[in-house]
Amino acid sequence: MKFFVTGVAGQLGHDVMNELDKRGLSGVGSDMAASYSGAADGTAVTSMPYVQLDITDPAAVERVLVREKPDVVVHCAAWTAVDLAEDDDKVEKVRQVNVKGTEYIAGACRKLDCRMIYLSTDYVFDGQGETPWDPDCKDYKPINVYGQTKLEGELAVARQLEKYFIVRIAWVFGVNGKNFIKTMLNLGKTHDTIRVVSDQIGTPTYTYDLARLLVDMALTDKYGYYHVTNEGGYISWYEFTKEIFRQAAAMGHEEYAEDRLQVLPVTTREYGAKAKRPFNSRLDKSKLKKNGFAPLPAWQDALARYLREIEF
Ligand SMILES: NC(=O)c1ccc[n+]([C@@H]2O[C@H](COP(=O)([O-])OP(=O)(O)OC[C@H]3O[C@@H](n4cnc5c(N)ncnc54)[C@H](OP(=O)(O)O)[C@@H]3O)[C@@H](O)[C@H]2O)c1
Repeated sequence: MKFFVTGVAGQLGHDVMNELDKRGLSGVGSDMAASYSGAADGTAVTSMPYVQLDITDPAAVERVLVREKPDVVVHCAAWTAVDLAEDDDKVEKVRQVNVKGTEYIAGACRKLDCRMIYLSTDYVFDGQGETPWDPDCKDYKPINVYGQTKLEGELAVARQLEKYFIVRIAWVFGVNGKNFIKTMLNLGKTHDTIRVVSDQIGTPTYTYDLARLLVDMALTDKYGYYHVTNEGGYISWYEFTKEIFRQAAAMGHEEYAEDRLQVLPVTTREYGAKAKRPFNSRLDKSKLKKNGFAPLPAWQDALARYLREIEF
């Protein structure tokens, strides 16, 4: 079985490639740069087959995919800068990447009769209430430009294909790229008080764990919509930050100890951000077990493994 993975210079694509290698599956990676430009960490992805591909170029998408003839495309490439996406002069670019790029990939998958996994987000919903979102809920109401374009990407996949997985994830962290944990660890070094929002609730997703599940899925025909994060319960960003610093301090990084570094809860309104964020990012993951997929480990355990992987 041959996989084609977009966005391998990003967090998730990097880990999907390494997961394929670990399982002896063939994978070709792609991203914008002429050659692999993600972390030079010596893992398999750094030396696996790679093709330069700008997904907003329809002719290139068709040419490359028809040439590579994959059995599965794992589409991780996206515009993921949520606040920047709100800038008037960026909206068209965001749409090109997240909507048109996805539409071109899905079109090529249709031509090749190959499976497609599309990664999406809970930002396709309105983020209100406290009930976890069901993956088959069609009550879409994106709360910002990023969410709107990811939803239009979902619709382009579902419109063109039958053999697709639309996998919504949240609060993503991986070794290869920027994320909330790295931001907090950096801020913690230079501040003695940090304010973090406590009224947005969700669960983190470690790309290393997610990559295993995506490959499991791709090897089945249990197509459809799924919600995936780590297990371990729903928390706020504030609680997540407390646990990041607690574990970092327990590893011997004394600068994060509670008596040196204070974390204060603030509301979304007090914090203020350019793009609107969901209060309710709770994802209902029960469909995974129902369809025979192994859930991800608890986020506390994922965080512990992650902190051992990165330098800080
Ligand atoms: N990160 C999150 O918290 C989160 C939450 C929910 C869902 N998701 C979804 O999960 C997926 C993976 O996220 P991630 O965090 O791994 O993303 P990421 O780290 O931002 O990686 C995305 C990659 O796509 C590349 N890319 C952008 N435009 C492209 C284009 N026109 N052609 C080819 N490649 C292009 C990016 O390159 P540049 O860096 O050069 O732009 C980057 O290497 C995405 O679909 C995202 O929407 C992410």
